Amino acid sequence: MDTVDIELRSKLCVALDVDDMVEAVRIAKELSPWFGVAKVGLELFTAAGTDAIGILTGLGYDVFLDLKMYDIPTTVEKASRVLGALGVKYATYHAQGGVDVLTAGAAGLRAGAEEAGLPEPIPLAITVLTSDADAPEHIMPARVRLAVESGMGGLVCGPNDVKEAKQYAPRLVGVTPGIRPAGAEHHDQVRVATPKIALDNGSDLLVIGRAVTLAEDRVAAAESIVDSCLS
Ligand code: C5P
Repeated sequence: MDTVDIELRSKLCVALDVDDMVEAVRIAKELSPWFGVAKVGLELFTAAGTDAIGILTGLGYDVFLDLKMYDIPTTVEKASRVLGALGVKYATYHAQGGVDVLTAGAAGLRAGAEEAGLPEPIPLAITVLTSDADAPEHIMPARVRLAVESGMGGLVCGPNDVKEAKQYAPRLVGVTPGIRPAGAEHHDQVRVATPKIALDNGSDLLVIGRAVTLAEDRVAAAESIVDSCLS
């Protein structure tokens, strides 16, 4: 298989968790037939800065900037305005920050994009870290309610939690890290599921990092993930 169908591709996000833009571009070019979204996290952002956004957009990716912002509302609003103007499609905010922080982030992100004449971006609330085995039970409904009240466009949660989250907020975009093909190494992720289960649970965007980026043959790993989504 050379390319994946366009709808599935738009649901697949590669997490470019490397500390060097040259390596990030190498991986991004290699994987672009299968992945429509590229995630820039703290590691790549601290190494390459905002240049990463333009470079990846130029390669045809939608950019997901995963800075998991949590600061005073004014700071979050101003930083988000910058990101919106730079063409980020998704940006993340900790739901733990509360309604004022999330509202400020969403407003800033949308205003920045509007001022720059860009399409409306999608602010995402981080509900529970997928590495967090100790997250309090039943926290999800409260975090989802907060995301809705704050004008978030979506939320990030574990692939096994997305079904429940969408019951409370069917219109929010459901983004799921913690994706592992059957039998793969879990690394530090606890709340994991296969790509197929994540899709069946209603995930709109599957964030896939090490299962592909650390593979000896990244193309083969990407193809096998796509096959497993379809079968
Ligand atoms: O390598 P792996 O597939 O575990 O990568 C998951 C990516 O998703 C990482 O970049 C991580 O920072 C991110 N993420 C997460 N849990 C969240 C939000 C983002 O694992 N709740």
